[in-house]
Amino acid sequence: MAAFSARDFYDDLAPDYHLIFPDWDASMARQAKVLDKLVHHRLGAGPHRVLDCSCGIGTQAIGLALAGHKVVGSDLSPIAAARAVAEAAARGAGLPVAAADMRRLPFASSAFDVVVCADNSLPHLLSAQDVTAALLDMRRVLRDGGLLVITVRAYDEARRTKPTATPPQVSETRDGKVITFQLWHWHEDGEHYDVEHFQLIPVANTWTVRVRRATYWALTRQQATEFVADAGFTDITWHTPATSGYYQPVLTARRAPSAP
Ligand SMILES: C[S@@+](CC[C@H](N)C(=O)[O-])C[C@H]1O[C@@H](n2cnc3c(N)ncnc32)[C@H](O)[C@@H]1O
Repeated sequence: MAAFSARDFYDDLAPDYHLIFPDWDASMARQAKVLDKLVHHRLGAGPHRVLDCSCGIGTQAIGLALAGHKVVGSDLSPIAAARAVAEAAARGAGLPVAAADMRRLPFASSAFDVVVCADNSLPHLLSAQDVTAALLDMRRVLRDGGLLVITVRAYDEARRTKPTATPPQVSETRDGKVITFQLWHWHEDGEHYDVEHFQLIPVANTWTVRVRRATYWALTRQQATEFVADAGFTDITWHTPATSGYYQPVLTARRAPSAP
């Protein structure tokens, strides 16, 4: 299958990534509050050792570090990872970050209480083999009973309705409004799609248009659940936006204890 490179997409997007949000700091705080509550509910107050294995520029990792957890980040994009370190430091949070593929995590086995993979990062893996490799490595770096937290787009309906675009999001900057939207091009298999990610940046009296391309696998809830179960997780629970307060469905699961 022909696919666009996720690394190229995020390396290029990293300097502009915060513009996806109307107010990135407010989003960080909101997301950390919900994720912290989910972790607290399952593992107690902590602080916990947290790996954010697709941390990007740090949207969840920085908020969780500011909430007191001992957070480490990793991401496929070295440029996003470097920005996460700088953004964390600017907000008084320590955040060690590695440039790494979630299919081959450079961390010791059982090193973390929590592994986070948030904001639709897992669907960048385009085959069952790749999704399984990532989930097995997330399991490896979790301690027995540790918590997996994955957030993904609600794809079940999209798989039925095959949307071709997302609504525009508007972010206020000192130079004016930045507008972000996506066009979706579905593959013939009805499961994968290519995104054209547009950002309209105001320049003088006109717009500069930035277009970046990526490929996703629109995993249904059932597909994701089966992959997570097959990788050795139990207590798999989906939290809807209505129940969690998070803007995407959240899956939590526990690393099944190793056999003695
Ligand atoms: C939508 S962004 C979310 C980033 C971050 N969680 C946030 O919300 O700001 C998806 C992230 O997944 C990362 N990613 C994609 N494929 C990856 C892989 N194989 N291993 C690690 N990270 C990956 C990208 O580099 C990107 O930073």
